Amino acid sequence: MKGERLDKLLAAQSTWSRREVKELIRKGLVAVNGLPAKGAEQKLDPDTDRVEVAGREVPLRLRLYLMMNKPAGVVSASRDDRCPTVVDLVPEELRRRGLFPAGRLDKDTTGLLILTDDGALAHRILSPKSHVPKVYLARLDRPLTPEMAEGFAAGIPLGEEGVTLPAKLEPLEDRLARVTLREGMYHQIKRMFGRYGAAVVELRRVSMGGLLLDESLAPGQCRELTPGEVELLQQR
Ligand code: URA
Repeated sequence: MKGERLDKLLAAQSTWSRREVKELIRKGLVAVNGLPAKGAEQKLDPDTDRVEVAGREVPLRLRLYLMMNKPAGVVSASRDDRCPTVVDLVPEELRRRGLFPAGRLDKDTTGLLILTDDGALAHRILSPKSHVPKVYLARLDRPLTPEMAEGFAAGIPLGEEGVTLPAKLEPLEDRLARVTLREGMYHQIKRMFGRYGAAVVELRRVSMGGLLLDESLAPGQCRELTPGEVELLQQR
């Protein structure tokens, strides 16, 4: 079905205004299915037509799901007055209104982060009731101990937030562990290790609800989730 006008569709699925889209078309920077766009009023089918701006495809899908390999030094927010945010790192052709990180990683934490404009999906992943397993690699300033693994499995009291749900701690090296959480309290892993006097010197999220970090993404890079990956998240 060829239904929507090019300018309307592109402006809806990006951060460009209708006027900016028209300007891009006028400058010959917009292509539809590999050919220069005919004009702002050209009719498109968002499900089958392919639009590129300056040679880069702009997804016209109603909802966008991105996986980012979050680098250290950026905050998990859409906007911040002082620090660069994960949304600032999204390339222009994948940026759209309403895009936000579904979940938070600390500024110094790296790895798997989902960005989307699908509020319902984000809510499901983030809901305290959802218990989506999240797997992290944590490097400590001192050797792991059996007491840590026992404490993580039993639950650790974290002040007013109460006791953590049972978490799995698997030693990988003397000072490196794989930690699986089913919730997400503020600075949770750092605080859990803190109960044993240990500091986390490196923290990286490697999976979330069966979705694995694509290790081919360089720090700060992102890509769209495949339909199968979106399904993994939607099953939660
Ligand atoms: N636990 C932490 O302490 N920090 C994170 O970013 C994620 C889990």
